[in-house]
Amino acid sequence: MSAPPTAATAQTAPDRVEREVVLRVTGLKKRYGPLEVLKGVDLTVERGEVMCIIGPSGSGKSTLLRSMNHLEEIDAGRVELDGELVGYRQRGHKYVTLPEKVLAKQRAKMGMVFQSFNLFPHMTVLQNIIESPVGVLGQDPKEAKKEAMALLGKVGLAEKAPFYPRQLSGGQQQRVAIARALAMKPRVMLFDEPTSALDPELVGEVLDVMKDLAREGLTMVVVTHEMGFAREVADSVLFMDGGVVVERGKPRDVLLNPQMPRTKDFLSKVL
Ligand SMILES: Nc1ncnc2c1ncn2[C@@H]1O[C@H](COP(=O)(O)OP(=O)(O)OP(=O)(O)O)[C@@H](O)[C@H]1O
Ligand SMILES: [Mg+2]
Repeated sequence: MSAPPTAATAQTAPDRVEREVVLRVTGLKKRYGPLEVLKGVDLTVERGEVMCIIGPSGSGKSTLLRSMNHLEEIDAGRVELDGELVGYRQRGHKYVTLPEKVLAKQRAKMGMVFQSFNLFPHMTVLQNIIESPVGVLGQDPKEAKKEAMALLGKVGLAEKAPFYPRQLSGGQQQRVAIARALAMKPRVMLFDEPTSALDPELVGEVLDVMKDLAREGLTMVVVTHEMGFAREVADSVLFMDGGVVVERGKPRDVLLNPQMPRTKDFLSKVL
């Protein structure tokens, strides 16, 4: 039998419940030659959190996402997923890059959706979705197909399974790309401006799918210029400029009542 709630437990709910950290980035630095693109980024993403990252072009948003799932080698700091170091094995003070096979398994835990869809053009929609679950995770093809059809239903494209990407609209292709990433059952989904290559009338259908995922409790990091989406869906908004996190907080604070001059300046141009 559980004890009745006390004043103390009542106080901790629901706002102050400590949620499990899924993704932790600490002191992340990344340079391309002389250009230091990320100058020490710290952030944490909790389970079920939707974090929107905003900021001017060139501020390092894509580089940050790419560094998170080790599509880039990093120069300093660390990325941890469920407490596990991503991309490297630590030997004393040294970091050794993990072998490609181990990296592939780690990346599978972070679904990535890009601006440009990146579907395999020579494969049907269904083949695109089952490729990695079967090839990387070793899932039974029949089971993978069943799950792929369910995912296609979820993004509203069940009837497109036998089609090729070129036969789909941009919005449909992006929804397939989301289903493909979800097929790996990732711990977190990383979206890099998923709607910015789309015609305006196709943006809504992709954002609607993302809203559904957020509602279902998927952990998401979304680089976006869609301020309406950020305001409506994000649990936290992070503003980046010049390779640093300038401001982070609840959408209503960062977007409607920003504290830092650089955030104010950026928002005055985009809102
Ligand atoms: N592979 C690369 N080699 C050299 N420089 C790069 C490379 N990738 C990115 N950069 C540089 O790093 C900086 C940050 O780029 P990044 O793509 O992360 O910015 P962003 O915030 O995503 O911008 P946008 O909003 O335009 O997508 C830019 O100055 C860019 O030119
Ligand atoms: Mg970018």
